[in-house]
Amino acid sequence: MEQDMQQILFTQDQVAARVQELAAQITRDYAGKTPLVVGVLRGSFIFMADLVRHLDLPLTLDFMAASSYGAGTTSSGLVNIRLDLHDDIAGRDVLLVEDILDTGNTLSKLVAELKGRHPASLKLCVLLDKPERRTRPLEADYVGFTIPDAFVVGCGLDYDQKYRQLPYIGVLKPSVYE
Ligand code: XMP
Ligand code: MG
Repeated sequence: MEQDMQQILFTQDQVAARVQELAAQITRDYAGKTPLVVGVLRGSFIFMADLVRHLDLPLTLDFMAASSYGAGTTSSGLVNIRLDLHDDIAGRDVLLVEDILDTGNTLSKLVAELKGRHPASLKLCVLLDKPERRTRPLEADYVGFTIPDAFVVGCGLDYDQKYRQLPYIGVLKPSVYE
């Protein structure tokens, strides 16, 4: 699948090292707490699995899903919760984990929804941040890598549901989707 990549932004080793750094920071910040780590499906599944295996904390896990891009590479602006959490989050220290913070449409909707359920705290952890494209005033508390405005795949991120399994973060050749 590497032939479909224009560039590899972060190798498997670079991603692994950065995820370990983030996990160490989160472990320090949540010492004495039992966070509820919430993954946004499907894009977060690899990052979340890697991250939680390096968290030296008692924690619980849950998942939600929001509608996203479909087969295109630009956000529709419309966000729907397609799968809700299994458990109540009132009083919990919630860490929301997502693959990428792009325009902020998806995550600002999810953050607003979760805040309304009265967690003790709510923080946001993303593998990638594309600040150039932000249209909502939202920042993540933990960011793996800040990237330029390019469409990326791998480590959970897809194009048309493909490439999620790639162990690196790559920029797709425009010829693949044009
Ligand atoms: P917004 O714009 O709502 O987007 O912050 C968040 C969701 O959009 C997807 N997204 C991408 N997916 N490569 C991808 O594979 C990208 O470069 C990219 N940028 C945004 C992603 O699903 C994220 O949850
Ligand atoms: Mg996603």
